[in-house]
Amino acid sequence: MLVLGIETTCDETAAAVIERDERGQGEIRSNVILSQLEAHQAFGGVVPEIAARAHVEALDGIIEAAMDQAGTNFSRLDGVAASAGPGLIGGVIVGLTTAKAISLVIGKPLIAVNHLEAHALTARLTHKIEFPFLLLLVSGGHTLLMSVEDVGQYRRIGGTRDDAIGEAFDKTAKLLGLPYPGGPAVERCAKDGEPSRFKLPRPMFGERLPDFSLSGLKTAVRLEAERIAPISRQDIADLCAGFQASVTDVIVDRVQRAVEILRESGREPNAIVVAGGVAANRAIRDVMEEMAIALGLPLVIPPPELCTDNGAMVAWAGAERLARGLVDPLDAKPRARWPLETNPVPA
Ligand code: KG4
Ligand code: ZN
Repeated sequence: MLVLGIETTCDETAAAVIERDERGQGEIRSNVILSQLEAHQAFGGVVPEIAARAHVEALDGIIEAAMDQAGTNFSRLDGVAASAGPGLIGGVIVGLTTAKAISLVIGKPLIAVNHLEAHALTARLTHKIEFPFLLLLVSGGHTLLMSVEDVGQYRRIGGTRDDAIGEAFDKTAKLLGLPYPGGPAVERCAKDGEPSRFKLPRPMFGERLPDFSLSGLKTAVRLEAERIAPISRQDIADLCAGFQASVTDVIVDRVQRAVEILRESGREPNAIVVAGGVAANRAIRDVMEEMAIALGLPLVIPPPELCTDNGAMVAWAGAERLARGLVDPLDAKPRARWPLETNPVPA
């Protein structure tokens, strides 16, 4: 089956065409992304109104490019998928309405995809991985640990109580005068830094519930920076290295705890999957690899361009749902908030 996927929940306007065979193997026929990075950079973050207008302007052309690159036409599609949330509502409305229009015209089903489900299922597009698996979703908007048990079946194990990890990278970068998005900037600076120079906290480390808390760490970086002001290039590098080391230690501890909980409740995962923009971080990938070996579990991290927001993940989630007969009516609602989890795993 051939599915078009549309992604407009944040600051990427994206469309892709995915082919899924009867055995459940996926192939990316096209994956076109337009990042609005420059439109938002001056503001140090995503401005919802600017994002929505930019999606309106760009989306038609992006879809056309995705169809062209896939070498197909609308009449050959089996379904049209769009992220229907969670996300910035203006953008969500643009993508979902466009998908509805196409679906209506070509007479093929609409699939209103949860953006988090799209991140969660990407690993099944890139790797042959069976349910259940443990998902660590780490992006600018989300920090979640979930047991992915089937399409549409997600159990929350833990998550952040305040900032998302990507958000903490972005805020830390901003307070140190580094550019947006902060993740790549902090990672770059951390390479020249001494991680142990500043004593930074490791919030939630060792706690029974595998939750996260990032706001205290960000504040600790700010207090250190203020204490030693004015800060030099080397100070910035040391603070970035210290921040990244704290985040890395916390991630490993929290994921280990999540695996423990799953094992205790008889839900042995087949793999640990990492998704979201923060998964692009090399230091985090490296420690996760060591940890997975120690736990005796395969670690699956899709390539960076499929970890950050993209259309292929939406098309793929759409195809996985369509293959199970899960389609949506044309009055499906765009949703700013849309939790994915069904029942939590008892800790
Ligand atoms: O998944 P994504 O593209 O967008 C959503 O938030 O949905 O993730 C973007 C986030 C940003 O907060 C960015 O700073 C972070 O991912 N990020 C990174 C790195 N690359 C992107 N964080 C740490 N290290 C990186 N190399
Ligand atoms: Zn995302």
